[in-house]
Amino acid sequence: MFLLFRRHEKTRGWSAFADHDGLKKAVSTLLAAALLAFLPAAAWSADAGRGKALYGQCKRCHQVGGGAKHRIGPHLNDLFGRAAGSLADYRYSRAMKGAGSGGLVWTEATLDAFIAAPRAVVARSRMSFAGLEKAEERAELLAWLRGFSGARSDVPAAEPTVTPEEYGLDPKLLAIEGDPEYGAYLAGECTTCHKPGGGEEGIPSITGWPPEEFVIALHAYKRGKRVHPAMQLVAGRLSDEEIAALAAHFHRAEDGP
Ligand code: HEC
Ligand code: HEC
Repeated sequence: MFLLFRRHEKTRGWSAFADHDGLKKAVSTLLAAALLAFLPAAAWSADAGRGKALYGQCKRCHQVGGGAKHRIGPHLNDLFGRAAGSLADYRYSRAMKGAGSGGLVWTEATLDAFIAAPRAVVARSRMSFAGLEKAEERAELLAWLRGFSGARSDVPAAEPTVTPEEYGLDPKLLAIEGDPEYGAYLAGECTTCHKPGGGEEGIPSITGWPPEEFVIALHAYKRGKRVHPAMQLVAGRLSDEEIAALAAHFHRAEDGP
């Protein structure tokens, strides 16, 4: 019963931003996506033409397409269907990574809300972009970007029902008091990859995190909600107590030079 309630709360929380400028917008985005699937190629490319022009506003920070590299912002290939802040070789803000491990997945609806008002969706994101005000422009830009999402372009326009709610971890897991000494003992297995300072070869820094975010991230790997083979393997072997202990240890560990 409690779980159900929590899930409901979560769903409401996450849909709040998607709904911020009304159901109308969400519906029109969905309609646009549905129409795109049925329109002949010529009509689609007409739409994509304006999308490309609109992308001009993103271009000074983002690349997309063949050979795209990270610039000020991450490349935007294969964006649809992936968790926010999840490219291993780009240094996201903690806010963006936290949003991803908390369950934010990029779909038509979440991207629409993000591009409209980036900081309304990810409060302390480093992306300094005021937002695209017009719903039609956002829909066209997203239609164009979707073309760079390869096989993922079949990701449904609506948020898949399994995502944010499934992250609704049992609060009991977050309440476990971790033993930092035990965490320090277990950490040897982690520091072979996660060097102090982090950021090496795409392996993020894990020191100084709020324990709660750390616990959520590890459970997300453990349950396969966050996809990375090595981390899924590592997290899959850890008990709930061990995860709490590691969170306590890395929280106080120095982020060395
Ligand atoms: C001034 C530079 C700048 C501009 C302009 C900009 N972005 Fe960003 N964008 C960033 C940065 C930096 C990040 C990483 C944010 C973080 O880590 O908090 C980001 C992140 C993103 C993400 C999340 C990607 C991921 O891997 O999770 C998306 C999606 C995105 N931007 C789309 C856009 C679109 C679409 C536009 C144009 C309408 C745009 N951005 C304009 C700098 C910019
Ligand atoms: C084989 C190398 C390897 C080992 C061992 C390893 N990790 Fe990771 N870890 C990674 C990589 C690579 C990522 C980034 C994966 C991704 O993009 O989702 C990661 C991501 C993470 C994240 C999320 C970081 C973020 O920025 O969102 C946490 C937390 C984490 N690891 C904790 C641990 C802990 C705790 C251990 C030890 C029990 C450990 N890792 C062991 C390679 C490793």
